[in-house]
This record gives sequence, structure tokens and C-alpha cells, in this order.
Amino acid sequence: MPLPYNQRTCYCGQVGVEHVGQTVLLVGWVDTRRDHGGIVFIDLRDREGLVQIRFNPDIDPAAHEIAGRLRSEYCIAVRGVVEHRPPGMANPNLRTGEVEVIVHECDLLSTSETPVFAIEDDIDTNEETRLEYRWLDLRRMPLQRALRMRHRIAKTMRDYFDEHGFLEIETPFLTKSTPEGARDFLVPSRIYNGQFYALPQSPQLFKQLLMMSGFDRYVQIVRCFRDEDLRADRQPEFTQLDLEMSFVQPDDVQHIIEGLLARVMKAILDVDVRTPFPRMTYAQAMRDYGIDRPDTRYDLKIKDVSAAAGRMEFNVFADALRQTGGTVRCIVVPPAADGSPMTRKETDTLTDEVKGIGAGGLPLVKVAAEGGRLVFQTGIAKFFTPEVTTEVIAATGAQANDTLLFAAGGEADVCKYLAWVRETVARRRGLIPPGKWNFLWVVDFPMFEFHPDDQRWYAVHHPFTAPRDEDVHLLDSDPGRARAKAYDVVLNGVELGGGSVRIHRRDVQEKVFKLLGLTPEEQQLKFSFLLKALRYGPPPHGGIALGLDRMVMLLTGTQSLREVIAFPKTARATCLLTDAPSPVAPIQLDELGIRIAPTSK
Ligand code: AMO
Repeated sequence: MPLPYNQRTCYCGQVGVEHVGQTVLLVGWVDTRRDHGGIVFIDLRDREGLVQIRFNPDIDPAAHEIAGRLRSEYCIAVRGVVEHRPPGMANPNLRTGEVEVIVHECDLLSTSETPVFAIEDDIDTNEETRLEYRWLDLRRMPLQRALRMRHRIAKTMRDYFDEHGFLEIETPFLTKSTPEGARDFLVPSRIYNGQFYALPQSPQLFKQLLMMSGFDRYVQIVRCFRDEDLRADRQPEFTQLDLEMSFVQPDDVQHIIEGLLARVMKAILDVDVRTPFPRMTYAQAMRDYGIDRPDTRYDLKIKDVSAAAGRMEFNVFADALRQTGGTVRCIVVPPAADGSPMTRKETDTLTDEVKGIGAGGLPLVKVAAEGGRLVFQTGIAKFFTPEVTTEVIAATGAQANDTLLFAAGGEADVCKYLAWVRETVARRRGLIPPGKWNFLWVVDFPMFEFHPDDQRWYAVHHPFTAPRDEDVHLLDSDPGRARAKAYDVVLNGVELGGGSVRIHRRDVQEKVFKLLGLTPEEQQLKFSFLLKALRYGPPPHGGIALGLDRMVMLLTGTQSLREVIAFPKTARATCLLTDAPSPVAPIQLDELGIRIAPTSK
């Protein structure tokens, strides 16, 4: 009689001393097999962990014979009796380490080819192979743990929102494009040849319409699609926790998110997070950290030394300050714990790398104590007069053995270079304290940024974001100075989410569209449904979306979204498992009225 594998008594990883003396039926995969002079030991694995099972030839010769044939990743069912391990044989590193199962019956459910990599926690197999054999990769415990944590985070979120009166409502995937700053993935229509659906970059307009329909509080854990250049923290399809609320100001949305994140941190990591989170304006973030998602776990703030630099005879600084908006800023890198300053090798490497992101170089000086006062040495030290040195030391608070790393040029470039230098130095020099969870709101983003290349304004968040009440008049006179009712939530330097209070007045929405270069005809073509809906008593409303994948990545301490998504795409947007994207049959293209141009890549 085959073993009834559908009647498993518990998971392998759950067998414990409380089962001693009981007969259990287990199913799982052969993790390791050891033959000790006739007695075969197998670590049997399932999603909950491993348990040692023992095959004695004198208990059941048939089972023992099967054990002799078992290899890694064979799938088996066993029935046996749980016993304490003999004295001295317990494995304290294993949850089931005090017991073993003496096998009385064994069924081989399926065999396995030798896996292309070991099913172990730490493997150095290249990522392509792992992604091609993703079903094997997913058997590894780090991925099992990550996906389980992902489930628990989503469950904690759903419970929280249910308690707070939110309704989970699904929005369509086949839709018209909602611009969020990336390219759309398009889906050709078979019925209307030459016309396309777009996969949503986010449910932005649908959730706004749900507010206009009176649902008041909406939430959805939803897949979004963006055809953008990928990085470790970006995937072409990713999951958002998306929500929208009616009759709110930014504080109300922030308050809901603070409660949510505190709940998640407690439930998942048993970490107490203090609320409310600190708030920092966009202007302050850019000034002190050079970036709109500052990592506040360490200091290394950027200092503006333009005033002093303006009195130096150093062409790089002088040229930078001559341009409109030109600036000279620096960061002060303290010596290592043993007192030693940055080495030549460190600064040379940084200089090469910062050139790689567009900087002309990385001018620097080292601070030394000489004759009872601080002086600059090496690098560009010779350009500093004693007065300018004193002024820079006062402006930066530099001390002996510090290294000052400078950037000069337009403000945006200087911010970009120094933000990168700051993060890199902090990481390399071990300045990031472990175990810190720094949540932060960045608020008061500008509404628009001007792109000189095509001489037009772009929305910093998205075109549906409301200006701050006191800045509405600036839409006409000085749009670049208008601040938005927008907010980002940042965790340890990673943008977890972003949202805003929305425009609920049709005239303001039309004005913003116009500023963004949309003619009335284009507005109708793209957003007629929104403009129409805004005519029917829209409530003031606002919301936010958090990146669920990013959140799981941070909470699991992994460095890539691919470690927390079951079936991710590569950095080149391919699925190595299924080999997507791939050509389709000519008949499918015919039905869609599509012909591939010979020059297409
Ligand atoms: P936003 O575009 O800022 O806002 O996206 C919200 C959050 O989604 C995550 N995210 C991503 N995660 C993985 N891969 C990507 N390619 C990717 N793109 C974004 C980030 C980001 O903070 N509709 C607005 C929200 C709103 O206004 O309510 C929106 O989508 O964590």
C-alpha cells in the first residue's frame, strides 16, 4: 500500500520533542544523505525546515533499500517514529535538532536530476543560472524566508487597513496610460487593430475616481508596470501598496502610514518605531544631503563653502561660481576609529568613480594641526589663503585629520556628486550604524522642474498633485517656486513611497496640464474622463503608494528586489525562466495587424 502522502501529520521543520514516541507521516525533499555503515541518515526538507530521518536495515529492509537509492532533491514520503537523538548527538543549530525520525515505511514519489546548484543558504552560483532554474532557487531557505515575510507584511497591512475602514478595490490592468514618468508597456488590441491598451504604471487615476465615487478610503496591493531603465531597486513589474483617502490634508495620510509602518516593524521585526516620523523639507534635504531621500543614520552633512571659495584663486571654483546658480560645497570625512585619515588610495578611487558619474574630479584637502592651529594640506591646499582656510574651517567645523571633499558647479550636479560621495564614503568607512531604522518624511517638493534640453516644465511627482494653498498663485507667475502638497516616505536612504494631496478643482488641473505643455486638445485626448469627473462634485482627496518589494528588501536586509520577488526579471528586463520576451507566431501578429519593421531591435 503506498503511503497516503495527503495525510501528512506535520511539516518536517515542525517535528519536536513533543512528538517523541509518536508516529509521523512526513513528505519533502532529500536535502543531504549520509550512509554510516548501513544506517542511512537523511535530512528531509520542506518549507518549514529540516528534520533528520534514520533508515535502519533491521527495521524495514524495503525502506532501507529505497534509502540506498535516494539522492539530493528526490521527493519522498516516510512514516516513522520520533525519538530523542542519542546523547551527544543533538544539533543545536537545527530547530528539530534534538530529535530524529526512525523510518518504518518510505515511498519514493519522484526522482530528481542532480541539481545545477546546491540547495543551500550561501551559494556563489551566478544569478542567470539561479533565475533560469528559479524553482530550485526558490527551494533555498533565504528565498523561502523572504517570500514568507512578504506574505506576513501584506497580511499585516491588509488587517491594518481593514481596521481603519479602507476597502480593497481592484482597478484594471488593461487601461489607458497614466503617466508616472516612465514608458508604458503597451498591449495591442485585436479587435481594434492599430489601437493599444497600456498596462498601468500605477492605479493613480482610478483611485482618484474611486474617491469621486464616494468610497472615501481605498487600498489595494497592486501590480504596476513601468518600462524604465532598471536598477537593483527597480523592476518592470512591481507591487505597490496603494491607497487613497477623501477629505484629507497631507498630515492625515502621513498619520495613517506612520501607524502602518510602526505596526509592520513591530509585527515582522519586533522593532519599536517612534511616531510621528521626522519631517524634512525637500529644500533642506537637498541642501544638507544633496538628495531627496537622505539616509539620516549617519551625519556627513554637505556644507556650502561658496562664500569662502569665491575669494580663492582656483579656476575650478571660480568658473563654477561664475555660472548662474553655481556653488561650491564639501563634505567633511572624519578619521577612522583609530584616528587615521582617508588614505590616498581611498581618495584616488573615489575620484575615478565620481568622474564616472560626470564630475570633473574630486578636489580635496586634509586638515592638520600645525603650531596650535588648523591648516590644509595636500590636494588643492595651496589655493587656500590662511583667511579662507579659517573661514572654511568655521563653516564646516572641520578638525585635525578630517578630509574635505569638494564639488563645484551647478547646484544639481554638485548635489548629485556629493550625495553619491557621502553614501559611498559612509558605506566603505563603516559609518552606518547597524540596527537603525530611520524613517523620514520629505515634504514640500517643488511642483515642477524645468528641463533645459526640451525647454519645458515636468511634474516632479505627477500632474495630479495639488500645489500648496499659499502657492497656487505661483502657477501663473513663477511655477518653479510653487511647492506641492507632496510627501515621500524614506527609510534608511531608500524611497519607500510617495504621495500627495490631489488637485480636485478642474480649473487648477487644466492650468497644471497647460503648464506641462498639454494643449486643450491633448488634455481631452488623454484625460477627458478625469476632467469630466472633476465636474461632478469631486471631494478633496489625497493618497500615497509604497513599494512593497522595496519594503521587503529592506526588512530582509537584501540588496536586490530580485531576492524578494518569486519570479523577477533580470536587469535587462528578461525572464530567464520562461524566456520572455520572445517572438510570437506570425498568425498572432496578423490578428493584431502588426508587422515587425525590419530595422527593429
Ligand atoms: P511613485 O511613482 O513614487 O508614486 O511610486 C511609489 C513607490 O513605488 C515604488 N516603485 C518601484 N518599485 C520597484 N520597481 C519600480 N520600477 C518602482 N517604481 C516605483 C517606490 C515608490 O516610492 N501613483 C503614485 C503614488 C501616489 O501619488 O499616490 C506613484 O506611483 O517605492
